[in-house]
Amino acid sequence: MKLSVVILAAGQGTRMRSNLPKVLHPLADKPLVQHALDTSNLLSPSETHLIYGHGGELVKEKIVGENLNWVLQAEQLGTGHAVQQVVPHLSDSEITLILYGDVPMVREQTLIDLVAETEQSDLALLTVILDDPSGYGRIVRNDQNQVEAIVEHKDANDQQKAIAEINTGIMAVKTDKLKQWLAKLDNNNAQGEYYLTDIIAMASQSGHRVSAVIADDAMEVEGINDRLQLARMERYYQARIANQLMIDGVSLADPARLDVRGELTVGHDSFIDVNVIVKGNVRIGKHCRIGAQVILQDCSIGDYVEIKDQTVIEGAEIANHCSVGPFARIRPGAKFDDDVHVGNFVEVKNAHLQQGTKAGHLSYLGDSEIGRNVNVGAGTITCNYDGANKHKTIIEDDVFVGSDTQLVAPVKIGKGVTIAAGATITKDVSDGALVISRTKQREITNWIRPVKQPKGEK
Ligand code: UD1
Ligand code: CA
Repeated sequence: MKLSVVILAAGQGTRMRSNLPKVLHPLADKPLVQHALDTSNLLSPSETHLIYGHGGELVKEKIVGENLNWVLQAEQLGTGHAVQQVVPHLSDSEITLILYGDVPMVREQTLIDLVAETEQSDLALLTVILDDPSGYGRIVRNDQNQVEAIVEHKDANDQQKAIAEINTGIMAVKTDKLKQWLAKLDNNNAQGEYYLTDIIAMASQSGHRVSAVIADDAMEVEGINDRLQLARMERYYQARIANQLMIDGVSLADPARLDVRGELTVGHDSFIDVNVIVKGNVRIGKHCRIGAQVILQDCSIGDYVEIKDQTVIEGAEIANHCSVGPFARIRPGAKFDDDVHVGNFVEVKNAHLQQGTKAGHLSYLGDSEIGRNVNVGAGTITCNYDGANKHKTIIEDDVFVGSDTQLVAPVKIGKGVTIAAGATITKDVSDGALVISRTKQREITNWIRPVKQPKGEK
């Protein structure tokens, strides 16, 4: 059967104490509701309906997805009322999967299981067993262990309150049945709300089979209500990623001190030291060493690469057997071929460094094409900006750039050129030349330094 997804995200989330709608608070740099949306997208639903209310326009602006239908719930009269808003958009022949904008960690496989269960029965609930079930809707089962009803905490008697199996809220329902049951909801309960959970008793009483999938990890189905829970969830999320990396053959100095805020793939036998932060899309090859406090964003790193401590890399492509850092800053558009070495306090932006090229210390290489086996001396600056426009520096193979050189772009240095230290190069240099651009050293002997005048004697 085809699938439609409904995500409830209309609540205010008062306990976040925030101007930002709760579902936009980030987990691993991604809004909570985007997590639920991305996971459900893996099931290729025909449509996803996002029920919004509080902070609606901002939520609409920040959340991206395919086949996304925004449905306004102007007043929040309960979870049943929320789903009622979507009814006109749902087609009878499908299964509806109901998710929550503040439950970010639910796994694809769990959702697949739930939907598969619904193919057999009419309604499948995701439940979980908690040590402390207080506050949640309790799962009431009959003598045959069949789910009969959900009773909300505020409506439960003492016997029901003792039930440890609770409703996560996540469920999958045959849509034609869902519509029939939603039409019959009322708000005669302790909170005066239209409870979605009341459809379970309706289903059971009218002889439909209700099945329950019990999640084995409470964190997977936990909803976020405040910043403490959000911080705990962040650690859980990070632990899940760290565990998977280690299973995949990556060594972590401390699994609790790696933060992945995006997508990371790492080849086997790579090692990641403490306090590394990964953002966006990052690929690291095999046998790499990533030093402490390294920040990697949207970059790809080949095999046998060493990124030394405190290096920041963003939007760069680094091939095999390179070494970078410590304290290097590699910016968007940087591309290193194999065996490139970039050392301390070197900044590279929009520059291609070909095989075997080295820039060991204190340099700025921007908007440049640098050939093979070039040695860039300490303190080399490509002066790429004339105050208005950016210009290109071209350095061909086997050039030796002496320390403290300024290359005033646009400029081209021919093959095998040697630039003497302290040069300011403003014109192209032809292949094989030695170029020197500094005044001759001279001495003024017995030089008297100026003397500081005593105060008040002007
Ligand atoms: C709900 C369930 C309860 C379950 C618990 C799990 C009902 C009646 N109860 O209770 O069985 O154990 O979740 O956390 O469903 N929302 C809307 N519009 C509304 C009301 C809620 O979009 O009118 C959204 C909220 O933003 C929230 C979610 O639905 O994300 C759950 O709503 P909430 O009021 O927190 O339900 P609970 O009382 O926690
Ligand atoms: Ca809740």
